Amino acid sequence: ISLLPYNTFGIDKIARYFVQVTSEKDIQNALDFAETKFLQVIILGGGSNILLTQDLQALVLKIEIKGIKLIFEDEENVFVEVGAGENWHEFVLHCIHKNWAGVENLSLIPGTVGASPMQNIGAYGVEIKDVFHQLKALNRKTKETEVFNWEDCAFGYRESVFKNKLKDHYIITQVVFKLSKKPVFHTEYGAIQETLEQMGVASPSIKLISDAVIQIRQSKLPDPKEIGNAGSFFKNPTISKNHYMKIKDSYPNAPGYPTEEGIKVPAAWLIEQAGWKGKTFGKIGVHGKQPLVLVNYGGGDGKAIKELSREIQKSVHQKFGILLHPEVNFL
Ligand code: EPU
Repeated sequence: ISLLPYNTFGIDKIARYFVQVTSEKDIQNALDFAETKFLQVIILGGGSNILLTQDLQALVLKIEIKGIKLIFEDEENVFVEVGAGENWHEFVLHCIHKNWAGVENLSLIPGTVGASPMQNIGAYGVEIKDVFHQLKALNRKTKETEVFNWEDCAFGYRESVFKNKLKDHYIITQVVFKLSKKPVFHTEYGAIQETLEQMGVASPSIKLISDAVIQIRQSKLPDPKEIGNAGSFFKNPTISKNHYMKIKDSYPNAPGYPTEEGIKVPAAWLIEQAGWKGKTFGKIGVHGKQPLVLVNYGGGDGKAIKELSREIQKSVHQKFGILLHPEVNFL
């Protein structure tokens, strides 16, 4: 079948076998089937962080495990168990409706709940790791379910153990979040402050923060329903303080944020300086409002987007001596 409806980049490639699974039993059956046919198994959530560069001679498993269940609560917190196939943003809206705080800054991120811990999704000063409690995942070899606690996940900036040491070993089926009944608002991020001010908000609420984030995202990021994309294509690189000072010599306004490992420089700025912002190449291009996002205007080819990303990497490297790493997974 064509994977066109199943990837936000809007790339038209074929999967040899495709199955939607709604339970662990379904997954076990699918894995058995793949074994008898000697097929590679590829897991798909919302398809919002992948770039298809070829047809897949594989079994593609689309995770459709649903359900949002409150499993424990006390004075301060609620623990909510969520099926991996739930849409992330719908889950966020559900939390806001219930007055469960913690994920409001992560409004409107495309994709599914099951994919969220995988790359520790983050935006506007909050990451999944701040609200994560535990997850259940199926071991692809033993076909048994295992529990991963916070420490087991080795979360980092757009990283987890599931992207590294345990890559392709597990299928996440459920995630438990620890949310708060007494909200702590994260409004440090400049854009959030400005937007709340514009909205005339004197005292924030999780609903108002969510509204502000939605406004910011809609003004900067292309809607995948209209223009194919997978959000940020690259991660923001961290460089040494010396390296950053050298860049500052030539670009006094170069943005940079100190972290434990060095200075984090916005990839969007590097790409813009290298002259790519808003550039179009046939059916694909670099977004005009946020150059960190590569776009498919319709009918674009995954390989061409991959090549464009290589060209961007090359020119940023030549100009700044910084190698950008893709955030998107190539398939
Ligand atoms: N910038 C430019 N030119 C532009 C746009 C941005 O130079 O055209 C520079 C500016 O210096 C700006 C800075 O980039 O201050 C940061 O821009 P922005 O706030 O848009 O955030 P980002 O660092 O580019 C990251 C995440 C986004 C997330 C936002 C908001 C990564 C790889 N991306 O982008 O996540 O929404 O912060 O927190 O960390 C995603 O992962 O798909 C994603 C959209």
